[in-house]
Amino acid sequence: MRLILLGPPGAGKGTQAQRLVQRHGIVQLSTGDMLRAAVKAGTPIGRKAEAIMARGELVPDEVVVAIVSDRIDQPDARKGFILDGFPRTVAQAEALERMLAEKTLRLHAVVELKVDEGALLKRLASRIAEMKARGEPVRPDDNPEALKTRLDVYRRQTAPLVAFYGKKGLLKSVDGMAPIEAVAAAVDEALSPEIAVRGG
Ligand code: AP5
Repeated sequence: MRLILLGPPGAGKGTQAQRLVQRHGIVQLSTGDMLRAAVKAGTPIGRKAEAIMARGELVPDEVVVAIVSDRIDQPDARKGFILDGFPRTVAQAEALERMLAEKTLRLHAVVELKVDEGALLKRLASRIAEMKARGEPVRPDDNPEALKTRLDVYRRQTAPLVAFYGKKGLLKSVDGMAPIEAVAAAVDEALSPEIAVRGG
C-alpha cells in the first residue's frame, strides 16, 4: 500500500505513520526526518536546509523530490510506504505523479488529518516536553515564531493539495482532533477498502 499523510504541523502525521508502520509493515518516509538527518550529518543538502527549516519555510522542491525518489527505490520500500510531510506543494505532487509513473507504481490513498489550528500550539508544547523527557534536543522549528510561519506556509502552499487529491478521488479525510487511538482507528477505517484488496 502506498499512502500520503497530509495535515498541518502537529496534526499527528508522524504519530499515525509510526502506527501504520507497525500495523501494516510498510515504511514511513518522512521528508522532515530525512532533512533533519542530513542537517545532523552536515551533508551539502543539510547545510542548505538548516536555516530554511529553522525559520519554518520550505526546502526547495527539487531537493525534496530527489530525496524521495532515491528513498522509494530502496528495497525496504518495495512492500509499500507512507509519505509523511511530502508532497507539500502542488509542484511536488505533480513531480510525485511523474516519479511514480516512471517507476510504474500507483498511489492508493491520501489521508488528510483535519485539526483545529488552535490545538496545534498545545501539541507542540507537549512534543517539546516529550523530547526533553527523552533527553533529546528540541527541534529548532518548535517555537511559536517558526510555528506561525509553518502554519502560514501550510495554508498557502500545502492546503491546495486537499482539492488536488480530492479531484483524483484519492482523498480520505479523518478527524485528527480525537485521541491518538481513535484517530488511528479512523485512519484504518478510511483505508479499509485498500487493506481488504492489498492485505496491508
Ligand atoms: P516535518 O518534520 O514534516 O514537520 P511538520 O509537518 O511541521 O510536522 P510535525 O512533525 O511538526 O508534526 P506531525 O504532523 O508529524 O505531528 P506529530 O505526530 O509529531 O517538516 C519540518 C520541516 O522540514 C518543514 O517545515 C520544512 O522546512 C522541511 N520539509 C519537510 N518536508 C518538506 C517538503 N516536502 N518540502 C519542503 N520542505 C520540507 O505530533 C505532534 C505532537 O502532537 C506530538 O507530541 C504527538 O504526541 C501529539 N499528538 C499527535 N496526535 C495527537 C492526538 N490525536 N491527540 C493529542 N496529541 C497528539
